Amino acid sequence: MPDTRDVKSYIRTIPDFPHAGIRFRDVTTLFSDPRGFRVAVDQLLHPYAGIRIDKVAGLEARGFILGGAVAHQLSVGFIPVRKQGKLPGRTIAQDYTLEYGTATIEIHDDAVQPGERVLIVDDLLATGGTAEAGVRLIEKLGGVVVSLAFIIDLPELGGRARLEKLGLDVHALCAFEGA
Ligand code: PRP
Ligand code: MG
Repeated sequence: MPDTRDVKSYIRTIPDFPHAGIRFRDVTTLFSDPRGFRVAVDQLLHPYAGIRIDKVAGLEARGFILGGAVAHQLSVGFIPVRKQGKLPGRTIAQDYTLEYGTATIEIHDDAVQPGERVLIVDDLLATGGTAEAGVRLIEKLGGVVVSLAFIIDLPELGGRARLEKLGLDVHALCAFEGA
């Protein structure tokens, strides 16, 4: 029987985490449900039927869980985009802005070959700072970002608009309004 339950219904909302007034959209309840996880991966891949994807890049940490499953399903390789200082080989780095201050993510400098077509995957799109940094890393290596795929979009935080302004293709399975 097909699963008629909406992806959104598997996502748990935790009030006042990590700060008072923030409603945290928790995908652990989606990942831990066998049907929820499968439905999310299947739906995430739906727009890319017939499109060439050479590699999947996942953004640490939650993007690893999803990105690994997506890469497996596509039978392509997986690239980790990691927070600073975690990757053992030679890396290139990109700074990005957080709510308070900045952070840095890195990629191995041989993770993508020039011309390779990469799908970027993460759980959630908020301001788009993390995703844009991931795009910059892949493009610095000569890769082509085919698209960015998320489970959740928080449109009020402007990430989708920011990425689309850069000419990028963005897909999300659901959206939550408000902070
Ligand atoms: C969260 C989320 C996205 C990012 C989105 O990750 O998983 O990666 O923030 O925010 P942005 O669009 O404003 O950049 P977080 O950095 O909290 O870390 P985690 O995935 O390691 O838990
Ligand atoms: Mg993250």
